[in-house]
Order: sequence, then C-alpha cells, then structure tokens
Amino acid sequence: MMADDYKDAYLREKELRKLAEQKLEDKSRELYESFEALKAANSSMQENQKAMVHNEKMASLGVLSAGVAHEINNPIGFIYSNFCTMAEGMSDINTFVFTMDQLVNSGADAETIRNAWREGLTRHDVEYLLMDFESLTSETIEGLERVKQIVADLKSFTREDSGDMDMVDVNECVRGAVNILSNQTKYHAQVIVDYADDLPKVRGYFGKLNQVFTNMIANANQAVSENGEIHITTRMKDERVEISFRDNGCGISETNMKLLFTPFFTTKPVGQGTGLGLSISHGFIEEHNGEIRVESEIGVGTTFLIYLPAADQDQ
Ligand SMILES: Nc1ncnc2c1ncn2[C@@H]1O[C@H](COP(=O)(O)OP(=O)(O)OP(=O)(O)O)[C@@H](O)[C@H]1O
Ligand SMILES: [Mg+2]
Repeated sequence: MMADDYKDAYLREKELRKLAEQKLEDKSRELYESFEALKAANSSMQENQKAMVHNEKMASLGVLSAGVAHEINNPIGFIYSNFCTMAEGMSDINTFVFTMDQLVNSGADAETIRNAWREGLTRHDVEYLLMDFESLTSETIEGLERVKQIVADLKSFTREDSGDMDMVDVNECVRGAVNILSNQTKYHAQVIVDYADDLPKVRGYFGKLNQVFTNMIANANQAVSENGEIHITTRMKDERVEISFRDNGCGISETNMKLLFTPFFTTKPVGQGTGLGLSISHGFIEEHNGEIRVESEIGVGTTFLIYLPAADQDQ
C-alpha cells in the first residue's frame, strides 16, 4: 500500500515536471520568436533609416543639380561661341595660307610674294585673328576649368563613403561645399571664408563631412534675407579642428533650439525642407567623435560650431 502511494506520488511529480518543462520550453520558444521578430524589425528600421539618409541626400542633390546645370551652362555657352569664332578665323587663315602656298609654288618672284603676303595679312586681319585666338583660348581653358571644378565638387558631394576612414583636408571639404552652393548663395548672401593655414587633417569620411558642411551653408542661406552674410572659418581650437558657420539670419527661438536635431523638425514650408539635415549631420559628426554647438539670437543670427578631433599627422 505504502509502496503504491509512493509510486503515485512519484508519477504525479513526474507528470508535473514534464508539464513544467513543456511550459518552459514553450516560453523559451515564444521568447526566441519575439527576439527574432524584434531583430527583424530592428534591421528593417536600420534599412529604413539608411534609405532616409540617402533620400535626404538625393533631395538636396535635386535642388543642387538644378543650380549646377545653370552653372555649367554658362561656361559651356561661351566655350561654344568661342569655338565658333575660332572656326571662322581658322577658315580665313586657311584660305590665306593656301593662296600663299599656291603663289610660292607657281614660281612667282620674291617681290610679288612679299606684296601678296602683306596684302593678305591686312585683308584677313591675321594679326587681330591671332591675338583674338590667344584670348579666346585662355578664356575657353578657364571655362573648361570651371566646368571641371563644378563636376569635381558635385562628385565629392555624391561620394559614397565606404570602408575605412581617410585623412580628410577640412579646408578642401568646406571649399567644395561652398562652391557647390555658390549658385544658391550668390543672389542674396555674401559668403566670406577664412581658411586656417596648416590646418591638421582629420580622420573621417570626406563625403559625410561634405554633406554636413553643405547642410550648414544651405541652412544659413535659407535663414538670411537680402543683405545676408555667411562667415565660414576653420581653425585649431584646443587640439580640435573648429569649423564655424556664422550667419546674420533670422535666428532660432529657444523652443526651436531644443528641437533642432530632432528628425523631421523643420520650420520650412512643405517641399523646401525635410527637417533631416541637422539630425543626419549630428549623426555624422558623432561618428567622427566630434561635436556640434549652436549659438543663436533672434533677429541677429546663428552660429554653428563643429569640432572634429585632429588626426595623428604621421599617418
Ligand atoms: N542657420 C540657421 N538659422 C536659423 N534657423 C536654422 C538654421 N539652421 C537650422 N535652422 C532651423 O532648424 C531647422 C532644422 O534644420 P535642418 O537642417 O535639420 O532641416 P531643414 O533645413 O528644415 O530641412 P532639410 O535640411 O532636411 O532640407 C530648420 O528648419 C530651421 O528652422
Ligand atoms: Mg537643412
């Protein structure tokens, strides 16, 4: 009898244990499944964020390229017209050289050749044409260099940063951003730049920093009205590279100041700003172990200060 009781109790306990184990297993499976679901959600959010950062860049690129097209069109226009003028002149000189060659081959005497030469020089205005060629050529080269620079700046803006950080020349990076926006700023703002000599390089991603600087200038440009001034300076400050963007624009209210770096915070009309510029910039500067500071006064202006650690210059 005793033995049976004992056996029953044993079986009951075994059954309970099995149930408990089953429950535990179910719970662990549930946990595992929700962990997997969370992981998937997280990675899809990261993908979304990447896409958003990319979209912001592409949206700015859309605005930029309209201006850039205009900027390229201008030198292309005068390069084209210079070439047409040169082609006309070339054809005059060609005729002259061909006529002279025929005369020489015909066995004409020296006096006739000399007279024909002088007459031809005057008739075809050769001296003027050659002088004109010289100025047209140098103007054309200048125009081509401008186009080359614009394309290079555009390329640096769209540069995909992948892999390791590089040694970045901050002055060059800021210069690219200033140039790429010059067709937007030139109408109502004066951009005054002061680059430090011998600025140490920073370790980082050229494209990302370029995007940050471009956004700073675009923001300043959108904040200033008629007599806008945007001062940009680079210098060393306590072992760090400081890049300062100061404008005499509308300023930022205390309430807005707290929201500046929040994604999608914008005071701009729909279609003009997505409100991602500063939040993306903040992320990029953090990635560089840097810092962004803002000082602003309503109606006076705003200064954004960016600090980046100077790299070990031996690298
Ligand atoms: N220099 C500045 N002067 C005045 N306000 C500024 C300045 N820079 C930023 N702001 C304010 O901060 C807001 C957020 O800036 P942010 O660059 O993040 O977005 P956005 O410029 O509105 O849009 P996006 O950069 O995505 O085109 C702006 O809408 C503006 O109100
Ligand atoms: Mg912006």
